[in-house]
Amino acid sequence: MKFFIDTANLDEIKEANDLGVLDGVTTNPSLMAKEGITGHDNIMQHYIDICNIVDGDVSAEVIATDFDGIVKEGEALAALHENIVVKVPMIKDGVKALKYFSEKDIKTNCTLIFSAGQALLAAKAGATYVSPFIGRLDDVSTDGLDLIDQIRTIYDNYLFDTEILAASVRHPMHIIQCAEIGADVMTGPLKSIMALLNHPLTDNGLAQFLADYAKGNK
Ligand code: G3P
Repeated sequence: MKFFIDTANLDEIKEANDLGVLDGVTTNPSLMAKEGITGHDNIMQHYIDICNIVDGDVSAEVIATDFDGIVKEGEALAALHENIVVKVPMIKDGVKALKYFSEKDIKTNCTLIFSAGQALLAAKAGATYVSPFIGRLDDVSTDGLDLIDQIRTIYDNYLFDTEILAASVRHPMHIIQCAEIGADVMTGPLKSIMALLNHPLTDNGLAQFLADYAKGNK
């Protein structure tokens, strides 16, 4: 399972990368705004800065919603760095753009996936990744993990190459359950990744080992 971090915060990206388990980064316009990154040139530079930290796929989202605009923006983003993956919304012109990019060997991440039908369409159009938002489904009393399971079955039935990128991950159990189902990738905030480290028995056991060593080496 690949681990992506879902943030535009460079310090958090560095911290996850330093742990040695990071395979990529996902961003979106909200995450960029949260870091105060505004204006075309600053946003482009920020993507380059992220690519210079992580040796892996970095999703950069288009703002355009019409085919020509998505293609123009996507090509400009892809030209920034070889690690850029063009993030395209699940809309009609987005699906057409996924097909266009796949024929040009430009990697894509189809975002805002909330149904199996949308994931099937994105795979048919040649998306590199699909991003089902599991936390946002949970927010409306619908189990996001059921969607990951459905998409896994469909992609396995037809041997689609499109990778399932579980997004809107909120906590470590999401990560574990996505791994059990067989999501190819998860993207989550730094705290969800770091929470995988924790177990009180590990802390207690280590404290005991260190205390016993200290007793024997007085
Ligand atoms: O990767 C998608 C993600 O940024 C959405 O997460 O927590 O805003 O639903 P959230």
